[in-house]
Amino acid sequence: MKTKYAIVFICIVALVIIEKESNILSRVSDKLIQRQTPQQTPQTPLDYSNTTQNGSLTVLKMLLSKLTGTKGIYSNLSEEQMEEDLDDLGLYNYSGGRKHILLLATTRTGSSFVGEFFNQHGENMFYLFEPLWHVERMLTMATEANNGTVLAGIYRDVLQGLFLCDFSPLEKFISPPPQDHVTPALFRRESSLSLCEEPVCSPVIKDVFERYHCKTRRCGPLNLTLASESCLSKQHHAIKTVRVRQLETLQPLVEDPRLDVRVIQLVRDPRAILASRMVAFSSKYQTWKAWAQDGQVPEDDEEVKRLKGNCDHIRMSAEVGLSRPRWLRNRYMLVRYEDIARYPMQKAEEMYRFTGIPFSPQAREWILRNTQTTQEASGIYSTQKNSSEQAEKWRFSIPFTLAQVVQRVCGPTMKLFGYRFVDDEKALINKSISLLEEHPFH
Ligand SMILES: *[C@@H]1O[C@H](CO)[C@@H](O)[C@H](O)[C@H]1NC(C)=O
Ligand SMILES: *[C@@H]1O[C@H](CO)[C@@H](O)[C@H](O)[C@H]1NC(C)=O
Ligand SMILES: *[C@@H]1O[C@H](CO)[C@@H](O)[C@H](O)[C@H]1NC(C)=O
Ligand SMILES: *[C@@H]1O[C@H](CO)[C@@H](O)[C@H](O)[C@H]1NC(C)=O
Ligand SMILES: *[C@@H]1O[C@H](CO)[C@@H](O)[C@H](O)[C@H]1NC(C)=O
Ligand SMILES: *[C@@H]1O[C@H](CO)[C@@H](O)[C@H](O)[C@H]1NC(C)=O
Ligand SMILES: *[C@@H]1O[C@H](CO)[C@@H](O)[C@H](O)[C@H]1NC(C)=O
Ligand SMILES: *[C@@H]1O[C@H](CO)[C@@H](O)[C@H](O)[C@H]1NC(C)=O
Repeated sequence: MKTKYAIVFICIVALVIIEKESNILSRVSDKLIQRQTPQQTPQTPLDYSNTTQNGSLTVLKMLLSKLTGTKGIYSNLSEEQMEEDLDDLGLYNYSGGRKHILLLATTRTGSSFVGEFFNQHGENMFYLFEPLWHVERMLTMATEANNGTVLAGIYRDVLQGLFLCDFSPLEKFISPPPQDHVTPALFRRESSLSLCEEPVCSPVIKDVFERYHCKTRRCGPLNLTLASESCLSKQHHAIKTVRVRQLETLQPLVEDPRLDVRVIQLVRDPRAILASRMVAFSSKYQTWKAWAQDGQVPEDDEEVKRLKGNCDHIRMSAEVGLSRPRWLRNRYMLVRYEDIARYPMQKAEEMYRFTGIPFSPQAREWILRNTQTTQEASGIYSTQKNSSEQAEKWRFSIPFTLAQVVQRVCGPTMKLFGYRFVDDEKALINKSISLLEEHPFH
């Protein structure tokens, strides 16, 4: 097996030197350079003097045929198929088997809950909860100018740093600025298990006046150098964020040869999101409440436009993911909150399978405890009514007028995700009418 890899390595390094014009070759080479296997120095000189005219693709085909001992069958392969084969050969295992999970969501979609599926994975996971909060706060405070393009680029760079265990891009946005890489101000530190356990948690002996920075332990301010060391020692990294608006802005991150990124986009019925936000962010949603009272919603109002904008962004990101562009191939998964509420264990298993990380007993245990899911002897999972009931509560809190507005401005988003429209209030509050299509997107 080793020699096999060695041969591929030698061949491809040789090829890379010969020719780098083809897209696939340069991608492969970028990734191989990261592998840095110094013991494998080329010894057999290979004559590829003819290949320059012929294109690197042909040579790759030849190589693949040689490797697998099957002559000719690769002659018809498209670039995409070939990439898949290289994947199977393990050539893309350049991140040392380390996975980087990005949970993309919007507020009130259950993302904290779903984030826990990974936070609770165990000692091999380094999980961060909304690190981009700092970036958003500082930039909107400082400039007041919400330049989406610039912001998206900064978000991406900070995420990239964090996935590589480098906190310095984030540090610039933490306020007050960390002293010697130590900060008491990391947003929701207690939501990351790895930031609240040894050795990142430096125990405080006597701390009368200051508050502790973790719930379960008496930890002092966060030493980001220690956090970075802990991150490097963990096999897998996961980040949850509700701040990335467009999936395509992440392309350079996903293509970073040092990373093996898996994106999970979490969505929820926009009617439920509005209902939930009206409760959670009560003061910001006064306008909607007033509209609910008098039944009139001016459709050209800024609030309605913002709702439409949010829905469109979520939909466009999902459309990018579902269209399976090459840079996202096997790296994108769309999940509905409602499905997680109905089948938490099953969906968690699916998500873990997608990420390629083993579903740990700790994560399973946490989900059992927090969803009251019962695991039957047959191995089939069933949930108690409770958690799906919770997920449907919004149907009784949102006035039908507002549900109608959401249906009008978020129609295409709802259609894509398989959320059924209701025509009257009776249908909205009739629980025997399901508002979910089964398997809408696949
Ligand atoms: C290179 O091409 C020439 C003619 O195109 C051919 O005669 C020769 O056998 C080729 N060499 C190799 C190594 O394929
Ligand atoms: C490219 O390779 C194919 C077969 O591998 C061969 O038939 C063809 O003549 C080559 N073309 C050139 C320009 O060398
Ligand atoms: C390759 O393509 C040719 C025609 O394009 C077809 O006849 C042949 O069956 C294909 N071979 C394989 C292995 O798919
Ligand atoms: C990738 O490489 C790591 C370490 O080199 C290894 O433990 C892991 O099993 C490999 N994964 C696959 C899918 O080959
Ligand atoms: C955002 O910034 C970019 C680059 O500086 C600029 O090209 C673009 O016009 C700006 N967009 C807005 C809406 O200000
Ligand atoms: C933070 O941790 C690093 C690594 O252990 C250590 O060298 C440094 O002194 C610590 N910083 C502070 C301010 O304690
Ligand atoms: C969910 O279950 C818990 C415990 O079984 C119970 O206390 C709670 O009232 C239930 N909630 C609903 C909405 O049924
Ligand atoms: C709820 O919907 C079901 C199925 O459409 C219907 O049979 C039932 O009469 C409805 N219940 C009420 C109270 O409208």
